[in-house]
Amino acid sequence: MKQEIKPAEGRLGVMVVGLGAVSTTLMAGTLMARTGNGKPIGSITQMAKIRMEDKKEKFVKDIVPIANLNDIVFGSWDIFPDNAYDAAIHAEVLSEKDLNKVKDELVAIKPLPAAFDHNWAKRLNGTHMKTSSSRWDLMEQIRKDIRDFKTANNCNRIVVLWAASTEIYIPMGDEHKSLASLEKAMKENNTKAVSPSMCYAYAAIAEGCPFIMGAPNLCVDIPAMWEFSKKMNVPITGKDFKSGQTLMKTVLAPMFKIRMLGVSGWFSTNILGNRDGEVLDDPDNFKTKEVSKLSVIDNILEPDKYPDLYGNVYHKVRINYYPPRKDNKEAWDNIDIFGWMGYPMQIKVNFLCRDSILAAPIALDLVLFSDLAKRAGMCGIQTWLSFFCKSPMHDLEHQPEHDLFTQWRMVKQTLRGMVGEKEPGYLD
Ligand SMILES: NC(=O)c1ccc[n+]([C@@H]2O[C@H](COP(=O)([O-])OP(=O)(O)OC[C@H]3O[C@@H](n4cnc5c(N)ncnc54)[C@H](O)[C@@H]3O)[C@@H](O)[C@H]2O)c1
Repeated sequence: MKQEIKPAEGRLGVMVVGLGAVSTTLMAGTLMARTGNGKPIGSITQMAKIRMEDKKEKFVKDIVPIANLNDIVFGSWDIFPDNAYDAAIHAEVLSEKDLNKVKDELVAIKPLPAAFDHNWAKRLNGTHMKTSSSRWDLMEQIRKDIRDFKTANNCNRIVVLWAASTEIYIPMGDEHKSLASLEKAMKENNTKAVSPSMCYAYAAIAEGCPFIMGAPNLCVDIPAMWEFSKKMNVPITGKDFKSGQTLMKTVLAPMFKIRMLGVSGWFSTNILGNRDGEVLDDPDNFKTKEVSKLSVIDNILEPDKYPDLYGNVYHKVRINYYPPRKDNKEAWDNIDIFGWMGYPMQIKVNFLCRDSILAAPIALDLVLFSDLAKRAGMCGIQTWLSFFCKSPMHDLEHQPEHDLFTQWRMVKQTLRGMVGEKEPGYLD
């Protein structure tokens, strides 16, 4: 059924937590694209076409009202005071020559002091942080930042995106199971159960702003936040940008399954030398990422349904901090598969990717689609955006969907559904 979607009028404030490699690449690239200095390659909202009911293809932005890149205003928080230009130079993703094309705009993006707790990212030592009496107080300060930014920049709407470091792993506890228990923990300053990222997420939702979790943090992936986002009519999305190695996994694993080929082992390793890699070098932070990366294969292969093929898959994931490579990650996958009569074969994948070059368009699409969802009156977990996430959020009654092609179908169906159109048949 066709949905009432408010038009994308006025300025869209995009407040990004963390002014590091992904966020500065997102900001610089968006500014370059809108001044004709580069193409937004990899972005679904900017480049993809979808087949409509009449079998004709249309650009996504001609189907639904996506905010114009010219209307975006960027803001940020970070534990370091560097502006977006200096942070981008430090990240060494885009060249100085490219960054200089949008230098004035980048220099003008100065991070607000961060809501940070060293215990949640021990490898980081910042200088630009808020002081607070409790997690609740910290959250109230972030709410004020959002309101002040909105007024100062004359924004019509705000989206908050977490592109900051991965926090340490914590399992879901009683404090996370209802809104009342989370609020109690924040007011009691339970710093073990309430992460800084939860303060940002709570503040965004309280201000009616969509929130996106680009890291694998527990954060909004808890019943308390699902409850709050529904109560406030706010869309939430996560977790963890699906940028490189997991993207490959969610393409290859469905292929094995659809061909009924067996898998006995999948070994994935990476070398990465940026600040993200340094934070993930701490075992507690790596654990958060490991859990996110490991969930994919079992979910796609369904060993319970196909024990002969996938009942005994040895799956291992490693991330190694290796400074010389900076943001240019190299990923290796060795996949042991077997076919007819159980005969073994091997596949090797060696992906020399650029982490933030892959993540920036995902971040842009998540921002623009979350803003669209809010204007279309959608709230709670946005499962249709699983396409962009390594560890798609889901409530306790549902399973996550990892297969990239099923996820893509979910995006297409949702966008067509918003304008009252159905799929065009098997040519979809
Ligand atoms: N690059 C990718 O392909 C990719 C893919 C999936 C997920 N991610 C995740 O995205 C996040 C960002 O990655 P990156 O490569 O830009 O990392 P980065 O280290 O370059 O940037 C992260 C920034 O966040 C800041 N920060 C940390 N804690 C903060 C807090 N509480 N408040 C405000 N700022 C804070 C850090 O100071 C740093 O500047 C990481 O969690 C990473 O795991 C990245």
